[in-house]
Amino acid sequence: MSGKLQSMEGIRIAGVIATNWQQIRTFQARLGDVLIATYPKSGTTWVQEIVDLILNEGNEEICRRSPTHERIPFVELLHLMKPGPEEVNAMPSPRVLKTHLPVQLVPPLFWKYKCKVIYVARNPRDTLTSYFHFDHMVKIHPDPESWEEYLHRFMKGDVGWGSWYDHVKGFWEQKDEHNILYLFFEDIKRNSINEIRKVMRFLDKDLSEEVLEKIAHLSSFNQMMENPMANYSAFPSDVLDQSQYKFMRKGKVGDWKNHFTVQQNEMFEAYYQQQMHGCTMKFRYEIEDEEAAPRTKAFQNM
Ligand code: A3P
Repeated sequence: MSGKLQSMEGIRIAGVIATNWQQIRTFQARLGDVLIATYPKSGTTWVQEIVDLILNEGNEEICRRSPTHERIPFVELLHLMKPGPEEVNAMPSPRVLKTHLPVQLVPPLFWKYKCKVIYVARNPRDTLTSYFHFDHMVKIHPDPESWEEYLHRFMKGDVGWGSWYDHVKGFWEQKDEHNILYLFFEDIKRNSINEIRKVMRFLDKDLSEEVLEKIAHLSSFNQMMENPMANYSAFPSDVLDQSQYKFMRKGKVGDWKNHFTVQQNEMFEAYYQQQMHGCTMKFRYEIEDEEAAPRTKAFQNM
């Protein structure tokens, strides 16, 4: 089974989300809610784990109380899975929630109550690479036909939650208007303790270096991959089919080099420059100490 996308308020989105749009738009956010907002495949689940570990002061047992999507519900999919809207309403404060909605479509009560928003952005080449694999699993989206076809759909914003370019720019431009902490996947990968400390301060917590180190360890790729409460294995299989691919795929910076040809890379770069013209943010496409990935395509000498 594969789902269809629809256009809703100018963005492409899964039909099951568009159908429930009024309910999503009027989500009852409240004072003290924390919202983790991302474009898909940018490290959402990673930051969800980090936030839960910070709020629970590194207590591993408490953070294994239930799977990620139950601990930190997904605003757009409440009508599709547990916990549903009533259960989320009944959750005690401070609640932590997740969304992939672009900034202009975030349910307005989050802004009214000045909720803390943690945004995570990831470089577009790795985001696309991750999304291409993910869209083979996610049943509410159309199946990718080929890498080439998917690359063009991504650039046009014809994938779930629309244009990556507009999404990252939208939150970037609003970050000083609202209470938004803007993080990058590649920075967390390079220096996780540093970024975890930023999140801790943003959440008004004060944890020792020892606890921060424990949180960095528990939220590392290998630890999360082995943790059934953090690796998405408990996510409803009617939405995510993990029989062929796994949600915890590689968790690397630079895997895009195994997928882009030189020609695709040049075209992608030219389009990036056009779309991001005038925007001050900078992305990393590789990091120094990342385990060298095999360069199977045209990037042997990069
Ligand atoms: P890859 O497909 O490149 O491996 P999201 O949670 O936003 O859907 O993002 C999923 C991506 O984040 C996947 O990327 C996944 O492997 C990666 N990821 C999840 N937890 C991670 C961690 N602890 N460290 C590094 N990457 C992680």
